[in-house]
Amino acid sequence: MTLPDRPQQPDVRRSAAAAAAQAAAAGEGAVVPLAPTERFATRTAGMTASEIRALFAVASRPEVVSLAGGMPNLAALPLQSLAREVAELVDTDGMSALQYGSAQGVPQLREQICEVMREEGIEADPNDVVVTVGSQMALDLLTRIFVDPGDVVLAEGPSYVGALGSFAAYQAQVVHVAMDEHGLVPELLHEALESLSRRGIVPKFLYTIPNFHNPAGVTLAHERRPRILELCRRYGVMVVEDNPYGMLGFDGEVHPALRSYDPDVLYLGSFSKTFASGLRVGWALVPPLVRDRLVLAAESATLCPPSFTQMLVSRYLSHHDWRSQIKTFSENYRERRDAMLAALETYLPEGCTWNVPDGGFFVWLTVPEGVDTKAMLPRAVTARVAYASGTGFYADGFGSRQLRLSFCFPTPERITEGVRRLAAVLEAEMDVVRTFGTPARPGLTRGTQSPSPDTT
Ligand SMILES: Cc1ncc(COP(=O)(O)O)c(C=O)c1O
Repeated sequence: MTLPDRPQQPDVRRSAAAAAAQAAAAGEGAVVPLAPTERFATRTAGMTASEIRALFAVASRPEVVSLAGGMPNLAALPLQSLAREVAELVDTDGMSALQYGSAQGVPQLREQICEVMREEGIEADPNDVVVTVGSQMALDLLTRIFVDPGDVVLAEGPSYVGALGSFAAYQAQVVHVAMDEHGLVPELLHEALESLSRRGIVPKFLYTIPNFHNPAGVTLAHERRPRILELCRRYGVMVVEDNPYGMLGFDGEVHPALRSYDPDVLYLGSFSKTFASGLRVGWALVPPLVRDRLVLAAESATLCPPSFTQMLVSRYLSHHDWRSQIKTFSENYRERRDAMLAALETYLPEGCTWNVPDGGFFVWLTVPEGVDTKAMLPRAVTARVAYASGTGFYADGFGSRQLRLSFCFPTPERITEGVRRLAAVLEAEMDVVRTFGTPARPGLTRGTQSPSPDTT
């Protein structure tokens, strides 16, 4: 197993030395200004725009069917009654809703968050909940408080692009562990832990999305959950469980959270997919010793999360049947998933494989040997369909034969049309490969369909 290359760092020392030499040449006391870009901290070298963000501009043109972004579909939200909640919130609680609040979050909301997590089998104390600006912020803060430059973080391969962004920003080295159709493979996790341990490396944590994975769409089998926790415990590795899609199962089943087996698991939750992503309300549930440090980190980032949106979420949970709203969302997503699966079956050329997600937003597609999904993307956008190529979901350049299709946002008709266009692009690409041969890219196809022993 090889660790991925460290991100390239800007040569700050050389620019400073060059500036000093210039200053010396210019005479005593002279200051030769460095360009702002030469003053960036070394760690910013890992901060690059995600492929997905770069895509948003083109993919959001109306003529393009975007199967790229993972935007929740909010059409089913009861906007009129939410408007009344907003008005009442300002009217009755305006002075606190518009004021700074506690760095840990509004106490009543933290109690309600515990009630939400009970659905996943979690028994939690509201004192251990830290409300954040989306769960993305919790992810970033946890990385900030645990990861030193060069530390190893384990993550599924592929993994959530926002998590990879935070890990890169704090100069973590990500070691991917492959999944199959039942999620993270315990044997491969064991191999990775053993191999790292032989080299004296204890990863800082395992970052995992057990339910309706982004981007792979798979769910961790129940019998694997205790095994994965036991392995991590044995090798002294913390577990960070990220579960924004857990309640969005298509058959109504809510899978038991890893945190429900083990109170030491650091759990991340969010109202982005079950209510409204624009409110930016997420949370972390962590043991008390971690909580205190996390609150300090949160305070230094934002002083406190927005009181207004927290109080709005709290009112929504008190006054609305949020469980049935989640059911409505899931039904909408299920209808879209079905449209996508039917279109894939109808239009996609021989040699493509994909998974059947039981919840969430995503299908993960593997294309035939020789087709490079990143290179194909501009041609797809020209054909008015966008997707997210697989390489964005790996820290180490793999995934060129994979792509993520999101079924969450477009209508079923648009999804069908998008897949039809994608199939035509793929056919043309495969024609080129058949005519000119397969470009040699050994080993650059690490996917959920066929995990190989070298996948750590
Ligand atoms: C796996 C995963 N974790 C975290 C997030 C961030 O969610 P939030 O909107 O709560 O910041 C997302 C958003 O897409 C996600 O897919």
